[in-house]
Amino acid sequence: MNTQPIGIFDSGVGGTSIWREIHALLPHENCIYLADSSNAPYGPKGKEAIINLSIKNTEYLIKQNCKLIVVACNTATTNAISILRENYNIPFIGIEPAIKPAALQSKTQAIGILATKGTLSSELFSKTSSLFTNNIKVIEQVGDGIVELIESGNLFSDALKNLLKVYLKPMIDAHIDYLVLGCTHYPYLMPILLELLPKHVKIIDSGEAVARQTKAILERHVLLNTRLTPSENKFFTNGNPEVMASLLGNKYLVEYLKF
Ligand code: SIN
Repeated sequence: MNTQPIGIFDSGVGGTSIWREIHALLPHENCIYLADSSNAPYGPKGKEAIINLSIKNTEYLIKQNCKLIVVACNTATTNAISILRENYNIPFIGIEPAIKPAALQSKTQAIGILATKGTLSSELFSKTSSLFTNNIKVIEQVGDGIVELIESGNLFSDALKNLLKVYLKPMIDAHIDYLVLGCTHYPYLMPILLELLPKHVKIIDSGEAVARQTKAILERHVLLNTRLTPSENKFFTNGNPEVMASLLGNKYLVEYLKF
């Protein structure tokens, strides 16, 4: 039995899509969520900057006595998770674009991937991609501007819809049947994506897989919280708490924190 919290961090509000999956699978686990919104987006930053920001977030969560850290950001995972694992003695769960299931299940042999520049240009991404996408056409698209619009509370704006129309066009023209969401902000785009994509295109993200992996690692390290009391979930942001509260359905208190 271990009641220490799970720490979750992201460049901003997007990782709450991962927290939802973790909370659904592990409802008794306490969680601390850290949104580094004042530094979002991480996507266009260089590797060294992403590593330094990831270290800053990790140190805060470790000071809060977290037993495991979920790097709920594709860009931070692909650029910094190996450094975090080398330097801190707790388990880290990362998140990578779900290219493997998309490539294995594609019937049209064409898949689309929407992610940040930082993720698409990382070594980890190109390694995974080349392992599973032989004979598959992969249409990669950098989602420039999407994170900024979500972080500024403009999720359901015409600007965002128009941007997505442009980004999806080459994928639709190439007859993709899978779209991989390679950024934790993007699951919030689901209603717009469903409207813009042909009906047969399946959209996949890594949220459920990350939750299952979190459970497996907690079990392996004997860190599960088996106390059947309601969990405590704390949300901190160095950006606008209202944006995050609204993505959480205004059901949770989101506190401003300078870090
Ligand atoms: C970003 O900060 O640019 C996006 C976060 C992610 O890659 O999940």
